Parts: sequence; structure tokens; C-alpha cells
Amino acid sequence: MNVLLLGSGGREHALAWKLAQSPLLGTLYAAPGNPGIGHHAALVPLPLSDQAAILDFAREAEIDLVVIGPEQPLVEGLADTLRTAGIAVFGPSKAAAQLEGSKGFTKALCDRANVPTAAYAAFTNAAEAKAALPRFGLPVVIKADGLAAGKGVIIAISREEAEAAIDDMIGGRFGSAGASLVIEEFLEGEEVSLFALSDGKTVVALGSAQDHKRVGDGDTGPNTGGMGAYSPTRALTPELEARVMAEIVRPSIAGMAEAGMPFTGVLFAGLMLTAQGPKLIEYNVRFGDPECQVLMMRLDEDLLPLLHAAATATLEDRPIRWKDKAALTVVMAANNYPDTPETGGAIRGVDIATANGAQVFHAGTRAEASGLVAAGGRVLAVTALGDSVAEAQAAAYRAVDSIDFPTGFCRRDIGWREIARG
Ligand code: AMP
Ligand code: GLY
Repeated sequence: MNVLLLGSGGREHALAWKLAQSPLLGTLYAAPGNPGIGHHAALVPLPLSDQAAILDFAREAEIDLVVIGPEQPLVEGLADTLRTAGIAVFGPSKAAAQLEGSKGFTKALCDRANVPTAAYAAFTNAAEAKAALPRFGLPVVIKADGLAAGKGVIIAISREEAEAAIDDMIGGRFGSAGASLVIEEFLEGEEVSLFALSDGKTVVALGSAQDHKRVGDGDTGPNTGGMGAYSPTRALTPELEARVMAEIVRPSIAGMAEAGMPFTGVLFAGLMLTAQGPKLIEYNVRFGDPECQVLMMRLDEDLLPLLHAAATATLEDRPIRWKDKAALTVVMAANNYPDTPETGGAIRGVDIATANGAQVFHAGTRAEASGLVAAGGRVLAVTALGDSVAEAQAAAYRAVDSIDFPTGFCRRDIGWREIARG
């Protein structure tokens, strides 16, 4: 099978690494890719916004499956363009990608499908939104409706802060993403993620994870795309996972099919484990980054037939096989991330880290004549397996410490929550 993998981050490097191990693989192409992905795939310089060019390439290269990594092209309808031309695609249609692209859409689905989630109301008018605030108590959560690169969520601890957030969003700080907003009840509990594969009808659980969104040790400082993650998390016990599948994921997939927007691809459920049971915080319509890195390390079967089955409505309803191991990934970021990361800094020692059993997934790197340099905010995702999260953490940090990246930094406490469970 010839596969075209789209994206250029650590998530896509992990997918490329795993796909490259498949005996069913013909040629793996990746666009636009990165130097790490280039170890496993032929890189093609196609921008993800150019749907016509991607379709032309897929036809020319006789691609049997396109795997779309990031959300933006999904929300723009790339999967529809390819599918209409008869090409199998792993990733949802534009309509189904609204599960990530519109908070209001997801909330309406939760209402229809009876999915437990925070109480909410949607607004396009600032005065009406402000008038509704007292119903929600404090803290209160204000969210831009559309994609806002992870920055469209404000947890306001005072009424003034909530009103300022409403003015900001309706006032256009997030562009059209904020022209409508959602006010939500604040949920208390531990946050976990569950991934699920779906072909539109059949759904199978694809593992749990927890990530660290804040930039600093002890979960301090501004939010980022994710500074590290581990899988599985014991916070999501098998019983809770079964409940999430039964009460949240399956009804959502069924509700999407009923609405004529069957969801194919990977559904990433962000969940709060509240005193009243698991509640949905949000859906993403793609693998998490860096959650994908830890899932791929643990997956104990061929990824390619799974993705192909999801893309072609032939997914089997059976449990996925996992290594009896934990995986943990530490993101090495460029100094000053998430603000204005310092790019161009030299990176050495990746080979040594890899030789010691860790996988170093490239997230934002560039190959120059002088060697590998940083080319983004998150630069590397250093990932290792262990018999426990504590052992995986030790192995990952051993690998981190063998990498020489003077203009970068990482958190030193990835996995602390899981390790504190004893
Ligand atoms: P989102 O972009 O929807 O994932 O929100 C970003 C982060 O804000 C989540 O990962 C949660 O930590 C937090 N968050 C979002 N919604 C709520 C909520 N209703 N209650 C508490 N925390 C929330
Ligand atoms: N790590 C969170 C995300 O991929 O959205």
C-alpha cells in the first residue's frame, strides 16, 4: 500500500515511524514532513492548504491511503476533496471535523446524544453573554467557538475577568474564531484523554494519556501545545474507560452518523473525571501531539491496517493490542517558547539518545549543512518505554540528557501526577 502522510510535527514523525514498520507498506510519502520523518518517508514539498496539489500528487503516486495529521486541513475539507476523487483517507470530513472546529457544534451534539459535559450557553452578542454570567458561578469558562490554536479558552476567576474575556473575543481578538463564544460551567477533577478509532460506525478505544499543557515545572506558566505526555494513565481505570466509551464516545459517534456526518478517523476526547463521573471537555478530530508519540510506542500491532480499516469502513470491533509497558515523552522546546521561540539553535546527540532505546521524534527541526537546528517552538519529543511510568520517565530523561541543545529547554517533571499515585 502506498501511503501519503500529511503534517510536519512530532505527531507525524511518530506515525511515520510506526507506519514504516508495516509489512503492508509500499512507499511512504510525507508532505511537507521534517528531517525526522525523512528517515522513514520520501518528503514531498506540498503545502497542506493546497488541496488541488495534494490530490494531483495522490493520483500520480498511486496513493492508496492518505493520513491527515493536523486539524486545520481537516476543518478545511481536505478529506472530502480526496474522498470525492475515490482516494481512501484517514481523517474526518469537513462536516465531522466541526467536532473540533466549533465548540457550539460539539455542545449541540452532546445535547442531542445525551453526552455528559459542562453546562453551557452559546452567544454572538457580548451584552447577552455578560447577562448570562451569573447562571454559571465562578470560576467560569469562556471559549471562542472556532479554532484558536489552543488559546481560545479563558478560565475567569472573577466576573470582571469574564466580562473582559467576552469583550476580547467578540471584539475580534481571535478573529472569526471568537465571533461566537461559549460560556461553560467550570468542571473540577482530574483531566485525562481517551483516543478512539472510528470508521463512521464501529468504534474501538485506542488508549489513554495525560499531557502537561503548562510550560513550567509544577504545571505553572502559560499554556503550550503540550510539554510532555504519558500513556496509559491509571486515573482512567478500565471501568472508567468503559464508561467513557459507553456514555460519551459511542453516543457521539452514533449521533454524528444519525446527523449524516459519520466520523472517520481518530477521535481525541478531552475528559474531566468529576465527582459525578467522566464529562467531556472537548473533542479533537486527530491524534494529540505529543500524545500520539506515546501511543505509537505502546501500540503492539500494525498501524497501517488499522488506519486503512477506519478509512474504508471495515474496522473490526475488537480490542487493540498494547505492549505491557508505559510510555512517556518529554518535549524539548526552543528557548522562549511559547512566546517567540528562538530558532536556528544547533542540536547534537540525537543519535546517541536513540541508540539507548529512546525514540527522538522531530517536532520542529531543520537539516542544515552544519547539522540539525531548531525550526519551531516544540523541537523534539524524546520518548521512552518502561515497565512503569516512573521507569519510562527515567529512560526518557536519560535520553534528554544525552542531547546537546543549548538554546532549548524542557520540563523536568513530566509524569509527576502518575508517579505521585505510587
Ligand atoms: P480546550 O481548548 O477546550 O481543551 O480547553 C483548554 C483547557 O481548559 C482544557 O484542557 C482544560 O484544562 C480547561 N478547560 C476547558 N473547559 C473547562 C471546563 N468546563 N472546566 C474546567 N476546565 C476546563
Ligand atoms: N497535546 C494536545 C493536543 O494535541 O491538542
